Amino acid sequence: MDLTITDGILGVRPPVTKPHPGFLHEVGEERFKKMVFDHYDLIKESSIAFLFPVFDDEEFADAADNAFSFLIQICGGPRYFEEKRGKPQMVGRHAPFRIDEAARRKWLELYKQLLEPLIDEGITEEYIQSFWDYLDIFSIWMINTPTKET
Ligand code: HEM
Repeated sequence: MDLTITDGILGVRPPVTKPHPGFLHEVGEERFKKMVFDHYDLIKESSIAFLFPVFDDEEFADAADNAFSFLIQICGGPRYFEEKRGKPQMVGRHAPFRIDEAARRKWLELYKQLLEPLIDEGITEEYIQSFWDYLDIFSIWMINTPTKET
């Protein structure tokens, strides 16, 4: 398994492949939901917390639920996001937030630590890899802000 982060460039949208349906099939909805909510818990304590509604527990939980609804749908699961929020429009939905390459890297690093334990839980590495590859590439699409020069 190779959970490295591809260099993301503002304005470049590489072609995306959806995760292998075997990933959700093996992980199951409950564990999948835990993974996405764990990601939000990590976000809350991270350097990118400022991008998220961390001061309102209800809003924060709803944000996590939106992410869960989308990701389970893209993995071939129930169409929760469509039912709850309508069309995906991911780039547009991220537009109000200043997402640069550094923020994207942090966001991905937090996922990495949640995906590694799945190996010990018996999930096929090829499936974990396909979910990672999806996050790694599609997250490049969400970059909308140049990285600040220091
Ligand atoms: C594969 C990449 C990503 C996917 C699939 C994804 C998915 C989502 C979804 C489904 C939502 C909810 C949209 C809505 O219902 O209105 C959302 C919101 C959001 N995402 Fe992402 N996201 C990705 C990458 C990122 C990255 C890299 C960042 C920043 C580092 C980010 C920051 C945010 C923020 C700030 C929100 C708004 C939270 C809120 O107030 O609801 N996302 N994302």
